[in-house]
Amino acid sequence: MSHHKKPEIGIVPPGPNAADWVRRDESVISQSYTRTYPLVVEKGKGAFIEDVDGNRYLDFTSGIAVTATGHCHPAIVERIINQSKRLIHMSGTDFYYPSEIRLAEKLTAMTPGNHPKKVFFTNSGTESNEAAMKLARYHTKRPFYISFYGGFYGRTMGALSLTASKEVHKRGFAPFVPGVVHVPYAYCYRCPYNLKAGECDFYCVTWIREELFRTTVPPDEVAAIFIEAIQGEGGYVVPPDGYLRRMAELAGEFGMLLVVDEVQSGMGRTGRMFACEHDGVVPDILTIAKGIASGLPLGAMVGSSSVMTWEKGSHASTFGGNPVACEAALGTIELLENGLVDNAADVGAYILSKLKEMKARHPPIGDVRGRGLMIGIEFVRSEDKREMAIEERNAIIRGCFKRGLLLLGCGQSVIRLIPPLIISREDADTALAILEETIDEVERR
Ligand SMILES: Cc1ncc(COP(=O)(O)O)c(C=O)c1O
Repeated sequence: MSHHKKPEIGIVPPGPNAADWVRRDESVISQSYTRTYPLVVEKGKGAFIEDVDGNRYLDFTSGIAVTATGHCHPAIVERIINQSKRLIHMSGTDFYYPSEIRLAEKLTAMTPGNHPKKVFFTNSGTESNEAAMKLARYHTKRPFYISFYGGFYGRTMGALSLTASKEVHKRGFAPFVPGVVHVPYAYCYRCPYNLKAGECDFYCVTWIREELFRTTVPPDEVAAIFIEAIQGEGGYVVPPDGYLRRMAELAGEFGMLLVVDEVQSGMGRTGRMFACEHDGVVPDILTIAKGIASGLPLGAMVGSSSVMTWEKGSHASTFGGNPVACEAALGTIELLENGLVDNAADVGAYILSKLKEMKARHPPIGDVRGRGLMIGIEFVRSEDKREMAIEERNAIIRGCFKRGLLLLGCGQSVIRLIPPLIISREDADTALAILEETIDEVERR
């Protein structure tokens, strides 16, 4: 587990070096990125980041849920160095090499379900979902996809067509890939039908069967349902127990594939290797990226062998399954299986219980939710919790940055806590103290 260190802010960021880099960035880097504060990183170790002015931060972003084993874990660095000396690239599209095959053996064994599976390797989450979209159409010969409001599947044209979490992602890019139908996700805490949890018997699933299929799309023309096990970018929405299972039954009933997007929630993040395991769901296709290789670009689509019916040449990728990235992934999985997934469950439950206490002290905290180390805190303005405190949320994120805690937002007014899975309870206490001090300050304003 990580050494107990503390954040240390010598110069309130951005310091002079950071300010200079940000200026240089503005003239040469695409300004489409979503940076919310000027963190310019020099190096990282474990759960800590040092900026170019010598400030030290506790990283509760993991580079957007990627560095599961912490920054520059020695075992991962060693694997990267060793593999780089032997082979950096050859392309799994045209040739074979052991690290890619060994990783596929590992992934097919560790993903939900004991049935035979096969892996298609990519370099990112969006590419994993693109592969799943293509495979679903190829295999079922059906044109339509169902995806979810609030869902985020990526930004390439296919995955972007599934995405429906923020209009800025889509503005200016239409027309999209035809055939995507969006439906509501399980927003029980602000149910669009105003039903209370437990009263509804999953009306949002019944609605698809009884209304959507009757009025909008014939179910036997739907290739796949694309669903996040926990909605990420859309606001860290944890569906109630049984929801994913109902969705799997619906897909099975009409011969659709169930594609579970675990790009963010997978690889131990939620205290189980995959978040759909919390609901006992076995997907036809599972998409993975982010946490799989501790920071090297790698993604994977893991599909049932019975579904992987496409032919030689149907789909491929020059870089997907790069040997250095595969070695980093094998090292990551070893660490996950030897304690980090359990640590995510333990420290995650600890943080969630502390946040529930914090919620009682701070009315702007409307909701806290999550599993393992995938935790969301929603900020609200009104008594009935329906008015989002967007500016306050942003002010809290910026205030924490200045105090040495790195956070990211999601949804409209949610802060997400996604630290590396190595963090200790002491690290969690440090982060929670900074967070509460900052919430106090924003409340006083
Ligand atoms: C659930 C989910 N799917 C897909 C993606 C897209 O991944 P990438 O940015 O690697 O393309 C993300 C990224 O945030 C995600 O959270």
